Amino acid sequence: MNKGQKIKEIEALVKDYFAEESTGHDWWHCHRVRQTALHIAKEEKADLFIVEAAALLHDVGDYKFHDGDEDIGGKIIEKWLLGIAVPRKQIDLILNIVTNLSFMKSLNSPERPGKLLTVEAKIVSDADRLDALGAIGIARTFAFGGFFRQEMHNPEILPNAAITREAYKNKKSTSINHFYEKLLRLKDAMLTATGKEMAASRHAYMEAYLKRFFDEWNGRV
Ligand code: ADP
Ligand code: NI
Repeated sequence: MNKGQKIKEIEALVKDYFAEESTGHDWWHCHRVRQTALHIAKEEKADLFIVEAAALLHDVGDYKFHDGDEDIGGKIIEKWLLGIAVPRKQIDLILNIVTNLSFMKSLNSPERPGKLLTVEAKIVSDADRLDALGAIGIARTFAFGGFFRQEMHNPEILPNAAITREAYKNKKSTSINHFYEKLLRLKDAMLTATGKEMAASRHAYMEAYLKRFFDEWNGRV
């Protein structure tokens, strides 16, 4: 099997794995992260196979699907990759990226131990963060809010900038607050030059959107 065929196999496994998901961690999220990661990888001259495979696999075993078990993803991925004869060295590189990403997700702050990561890991991390920003990020935020029956906006519930991991997991806020609690801080957590540029553009788009949202909310336009 050549690398292109291996990617096709991984794609099929990931599609099947996320078949029933609708909270924003669906197959299309993995697809977009792959597209964005490949774009960054070309600019940053990284290993395209490792980046594409890790991007496709990055959310497998996310704690939300396994009752808090944060180790299960690695086991599933290892089994899949062995099954399609990916060499041990490449499996380790891919696992390293996915594990580091979920470790960083488990941290409270958006600042991460970036210097410990390979360029491929930085790229997949940036691509995942970028999918929470811009037009797609706005759509995902309201889709998530609707799914968890959270209010779109409530001026009486103020954003909590120092939101804790527990409060975040309990999701007692509004979708508009999520921009202030998380999304507007993400541009400072980008790890590659290309990721930073893309985040700046998506950040500006969200700021313009929020300005318009409040203008409409207050009947000004
Ligand atoms: P990830 O960190 O992998 O993006 P999350 O579960 O935190 O995973 O987020 C999935 C999507 O849902 C993202 O687009 C995120 O911005 C959005 N989201 C997460 N928490 C909230 C929330 N409390 N309110 C609205 N949208 C949210
Ligand atoms: Ni993701």
